[in-house]
Amino acid sequence: MSDVVLKNATIVDGSGSRQGDVAIRDGVIHEVGEKLGGGDTVDLDGLVLMPGLVDLHTHLREPGDEEAETIETGSRAAALGGYTAVVAMPNTNPTIDSAAVVEQVRRCSSRALCDVVPSAAITVGRNGELLAPMAELVRAGVRIFTDDGRGVQDPRLMRTAFEYAAGLAHLAGGTAGSASGVVLAQHCEVDELAGHGVMHEGEWSSRLGLPGQPAEAEELMIHRDLALAGLTGGRLHIQHVSTAGGVEMIRTAKAAGIAVTAEVTPHHLVLDHSHCAGFDPVFKVHPPLRTAADVAALRAGLQDQTIDAIATDHAPHTQQAKECSFLDAAPGMLGLETALAVVLTELDLDLSTVVRVMSINPARIAGLDHRHGGPIAAGRPANLTVVDPNVSWTVQGSTLASRSSNTAFEGRVLRGGVIHTLCDGEFVVRDGEATR
Ligand code: DOR
Repeated sequence: MSDVVLKNATIVDGSGSRQGDVAIRDGVIHEVGEKLGGGDTVDLDGLVLMPGLVDLHTHLREPGDEEAETIETGSRAAALGGYTAVVAMPNTNPTIDSAAVVEQVRRCSSRALCDVVPSAAITVGRNGELLAPMAELVRAGVRIFTDDGRGVQDPRLMRTAFEYAAGLAHLAGGTAGSASGVVLAQHCEVDELAGHGVMHEGEWSSRLGLPGQPAEAEELMIHRDLALAGLTGGRLHIQHVSTAGGVEMIRTAKAAGIAVTAEVTPHHLVLDHSHCAGFDPVFKVHPPLRTAADVAALRAGLQDQTIDAIATDHAPHTQQAKECSFLDAAPGMLGLETALAVVLTELDLDLSTVVRVMSINPARIAGLDHRHGGPIAAGRPANLTVVDPNVSWTVQGSTLASRSSNTAFEGRVLRGGVIHTLCDGEFVVRDGEATR
């Protein structure tokens, strides 16, 4: 007897779209077919059943900044957004840069509503000076290393990190450039060039009199790291690419066989620097919102698969940190609960593409494809999301499950809602509500 039977669903996974029922037993998909019965039967007529979403870029703030988010509140936001796994960024306090802190995060995640996958810093304390104990961290299960929030500035240190990552790939069950190896995920930003820039350097920064950071601050580091990935055979993931020039370099590098993947955020795909015109710090984010031409290039890069994944860069901040002057405000905006609906509403992507860029590819990049990203088939863990692609709702930061409310989409009417999320066969979201 199955525990749950999901009936009459439009099933969308890597092998396309079909109608069917899915029976789940002991947390695993037991059968996919027609006219399945038994157990807790849930009718999904008119709804889409897809593999749970995977976010490569989530700030959960725990340990250290729990007034902005906790693993519990962030994972609830993730589940409500349709995510069954999130990669937690290491810019916590303390930094996730040792096996002990990885273990601490894992302990704090035992009651999370989705898989919380710790990434670790490339350098100790993210200070850019000394490599973190990468072998110890890989042995502790870490696959993604990043100093996110900053890029690693020193090219020699970055080269060494790539060499270590390539050398440690066997511990992670892969070869140097393979999908199952160790990944260096870079926040590409040259500090000296970004300076104190709080938005994109261009027409709007001039008009507003705010210090800008030029596109070149991102592009120079993308260029350097593509070269270093080529030199060392290490695997590179470019985080939140935001510039047309960056997309073009990644396109060329992929064609040349460099082991590189890339992500883009929903906000960089939808918003541009003109949104900063009202000096509202909710639009302050790193990398900054760029030009309309950059937005078009990011969309084209997603279409032609230069960019592999959409990642949220969910960055909760307290009112105190965000509701101040544009100059002083912390950079970053929420993403987990709005990402899917923003994508479905604003981008002209079919559902198979959405599943590819929000579930299949991120799961592969993070080495989570044994648990996430489908296919929806017998024997696979039941990490699933059910979406109503037609329902409309209005974003209201104050009602989001995140502990913070700094959404850049306040008041927007979005199309597409998460109805159910299942983790290992358990409803963590049912009928649009978190179950715990
Ligand atoms: O805007 C951002 N906020 N960009 C980052 O890279 C870090 C993040 C944060 O941690 O708030």
